[in-house]
Amino acid sequence: MTGFKTTVAIAAFALASIASATGCAADNCHRALFPCPSPSAVSVASAFCATITASGTTATNYPTRATNACGTTANRYISACQCGPTCSYSSSTSTTSATSTVSTPPACEATPTNGNLLYGDFECGISPWTSQVFEPFKNVYGVSVQAPGFTNANSFQTKFLGTSNCGTTCTYARLTSPIFLVTPGVKYKYTFATWFDGISRGFVGTKINERTGRTVDAVDYPVSKWRFHQVPFQANATENQVSVFLEWLNVESKLDSVSFAPLSSYCGNTPPVGLLPDGEFECGMGAWTQQKPDPGATAGVVNVTADALYANSFPMGDFAWRAVSPFTPNPANQELHVSARIISGSMPVTPGKKYLIYFTSFFSNRDVGFVGLMINNSPIYTRNPNDAGQGTPTVFAPNHIIWTATAGLTSASVKIEAVMFGAGTMAIDSVMFVELNDTVV
Ligand SMILES: *[C@@H]1O[C@H](CO)[C@@H](O)[C@H](O)[C@H]1NC(C)=O
Ligand SMILES: *[C@@H]1O[C@H](CO)[C@@H](O)[C@H](O)[C@H]1NC(C)=O
Ligand SMILES: *[C@@H]1O[C@H](CO)[C@@H](O)[C@H](O)[C@H]1NC(C)=O
Repeated sequence: MTGFKTTVAIAAFALASIASATGCAADNCHRALFPCPSPSAVSVASAFCATITASGTTATNYPTRATNACGTTANRYISACQCGPTCSYSSSTSTTSATSTVSTPPACEATPTNGNLLYGDFECGISPWTSQVFEPFKNVYGVSVQAPGFTNANSFQTKFLGTSNCGTTCTYARLTSPIFLVTPGVKYKYTFATWFDGISRGFVGTKINERTGRTVDAVDYPVSKWRFHQVPFQANATENQVSVFLEWLNVESKLDSVSFAPLSSYCGNTPPVGLLPDGEFECGMGAWTQQKPDPGATAGVVNVTADALYANSFPMGDFAWRAVSPFTPNPANQELHVSARIISGSMPVTPGKKYLIYFTSFFSNRDVGFVGLMINNSPIYTRNPNDAGQGTPTVFAPNHIIWTATAGLTSASVKIEAVMFGAGTMAIDSVMFVELNDTVV
């Protein structure tokens, strides 16, 4: 970590981009309501605006993704709605052609809905991110956008072109996002995917503003496979803008699918990443259905930050789903040892396409049982507290499953079961279901 240097000034054009589009563009409520990288969210907002301005009365079905920025009173929505969307692709809904200074190439419209962070999928090249390769590596190191992506067609890549004469802690390259707006005090989720080749040394370091965040060590991950990461972030009481940095220290990798969005935007059925509704449980069960065969067990969504059991568990946000068996369960009361389960809303899938199922799991002790994952009632995965990937008990640890939709399948539902053999608690959080590039392994 000693080589993790402080950052240089952010490129001026990134600052300019905040104030660009219109007089409304500097308003974080307007930006939250009409996130240009997400045409679907923009059209949802336009439909909402039609209801709030039609009669002058106060609609209260505010789009979830905007409530952090706009609050829950009508006046800011009415103001933002009067400006309308200013994204250049939305010619059918744009109120004025003079506002189209943010030019979005058509190829980028399909970019996943990356919350507040624009172009985190690198489908349009590196810009508007800025990249740097440091001396003395300028001639032996390169950065570029390459096919394929983890999601969609392209990813960012750093690559050795020769032999490095550097020690183990030098920074080869850095990638800096444009500045984007955040709401002071609000909790966010930052995601990205990495892919390491055979050089299993060094790490990718991340920072948000000047705070050192997650480091991803090459030695911890399998070679030539994508791995998805998520990191919590809370804006402090005065922090209203953010820039994300990634640095490559003595390592090369691919990078893709960077997103940064308020945790609350994972409530409802248009999450910023993937297809699964309410996967963070921040608004309770949402679209999930719960079944609890064992009357002796307790199950449901709880505020884990309010419970000492989860004190060192690194939860994402405040809420998670959990099942508790206060005593060793009686199998006669369970269904094949299942004490409780949750079943997601149904999601559209395309036969032959690949999907990431990601979730975090928590176990209070090593003999409590295991978690089972099914898609459309077919078992595909289990996580046991003794699995290496789970680490020590009482930590929310990541699970990463790649699944291909079989012929004829057009919808998928995720079922997660608490298979309990002993007394204790199991918890689940951050469930995501994300379409991947066909070539991902
Ligand atoms: C996967 O990547 C290739 C190469 O960039 C691209 O042609 C293809 O459309 C991508 N597939 C998906 C499902 O995004
Ligand atoms: C809040 O964040 C800003 C930007 O990162 C930083 O300059 C400031 O020192 C932080 N304030 C506190 C109280 O940590
Ligand atoms: C969850 O519990 C913590 C600790 O008691 C509290 O500070 C926080 O406000 C709670 N979160 C919500 C959303 O109620």
